[in-house]
Amino acid sequence: MQEFIITGGRPLSGELTLQGSKNSSLPIMAAALLGGGETVLKSCPELTDVYSASRILNCLGCKCSISDGTAVIDPAGAEGSEIPENLMREMRSSIMFMGAILGRTGECTVSIPGGCELGPRPIDMHLAALKKMGADISDKGGRIRCRINGGRAHGARITLPFPSVGATENIILCAVTAGGETIVNNAAREPEICDLCGFLRARGADIKGDGGSSIVINGVEELHGCEYTIMPDRIAGATYLSMTAAAGGEMILKNACVAETEPFLSVLEQTGCTIYAGRDKIYLRSCGRLRAVRERIRTMPHPGFPTDAQAVLMAALVRAEGTSVFEENIFDCRYRHTAALIKMGADIEVMGKVAVVRGVSRLHGAEIEATDLRGGAAMAVAALAAEGTTRLSGIAHIDRGYEKFEEAVSRLGGDIRRV
Ligand code: EPU
Repeated sequence: MQEFIITGGRPLSGELTLQGSKNSSLPIMAAALLGGGETVLKSCPELTDVYSASRILNCLGCKCSISDGTAVIDPAGAEGSEIPENLMREMRSSIMFMGAILGRTGECTVSIPGGCELGPRPIDMHLAALKKMGADISDKGGRIRCRINGGRAHGARITLPFPSVGATENIILCAVTAGGETIVNNAAREPEICDLCGFLRARGADIKGDGGSSIVINGVEELHGCEYTIMPDRIAGATYLSMTAAAGGEMILKNACVAETEPFLSVLEQTGCTIYAGRDKIYLRSCGRLRAVRERIRTMPHPGFPTDAQAVLMAALVRAEGTSVFEENIFDCRYRHTAALIKMGADIEVMGKVAVVRGVSRLHGAEIEATDLRGGAAMAVAALAAEGTTRLSGIAHIDRGYEKFEEAVSRLGGDIRRV
């Protein structure tokens, strides 16, 4: 098992070009399964989750190859409709293939997906929506079989009880080649939804309203191939900015999606960092001793503060002057990183969905283990701001979402080694 050895306590500085978005790439790769023609995806991050998606595509009969940040996907031979349990377990986004396989073949067999353990992550909204679009669904010992009578889903009016990102994506994937119009009310508004829709439109889909809470999809008969560039990863961006904020120093983030990162930036700015944002660049300077954030930091669906940036911002605030309060409203169990931060000297009290972070003047290195993707990244942020050396295990979690993490950190002058 690999580990990161991180020696902290020195300021960071440098320029970093942001990777393509993990949470866009995965549904977009599923979408490449639909219709005909080859998809060429530029800025496709080389991550273990992206390789898992590639294995699923190949297992369904697609030809998918990834090299030098470009994925090429040819769905011509994609006759398969079953994803084996071992592939389903590799990541949460395997569930996104359900809508796409149904759209392509009219039937699919999957199982409950794996992914980060952030509390219960049911798929009831996905299944209820697909049922409304004509799928018969049965669950036998955890294997979920879906079948559409006549082979083609039909449009439907669907109101989600919560703007779930994954359920919105699955509905879109099933609806783009369905017969008739689908309306998704209370849809997720995350930028990655817009990226998926942008990709599908480039292939000939008829989708309107993404980015708002009602999305209207008119099913088309065919989709064609296209070349598409995946949006930058706003959460990886938030992670590297938090890192420099925590350790002190200055950095320029290039290929940044500035508008999409705004809900995070507006909170980070309250810590006293100097931030300038241009069209696709973000400059940050930090003296290394942040101010606590006065307002409660509430994670909310976009355009609220992103749950995926909660842990990395918390890691930056553990050494801030004063007390910051987080409220996690998306997942039930997204404070697992706090145990490691406390081991490093942080003063954090978790009470249900609230975490109270009382700033301490110093952190020290420790032996800690990443328990999920963003929690693991948060531990690295804290380690770079801590005195001494940290041994961080469980880094397979970090490799799921951060492309060449140690290279990026080293480019900023951080002392990190993979052993
Ligand atoms: N939920 C249900 N039933 C459902 C679907 C969701 O109860 O059928 C609940 C979930 O349990 C959760 C909430 O709704 O409490 C939000 O879940 P959502 O469906 O929006 O999340 P997701 O699609 O599973 C994506 C990202 C997550 C990100 C969330 C929220 C991908 C691959 N994953 O997950 O990213 O935290 O949206 O923005 O896009 C990460 O990158 O580290 C990560 C976990």
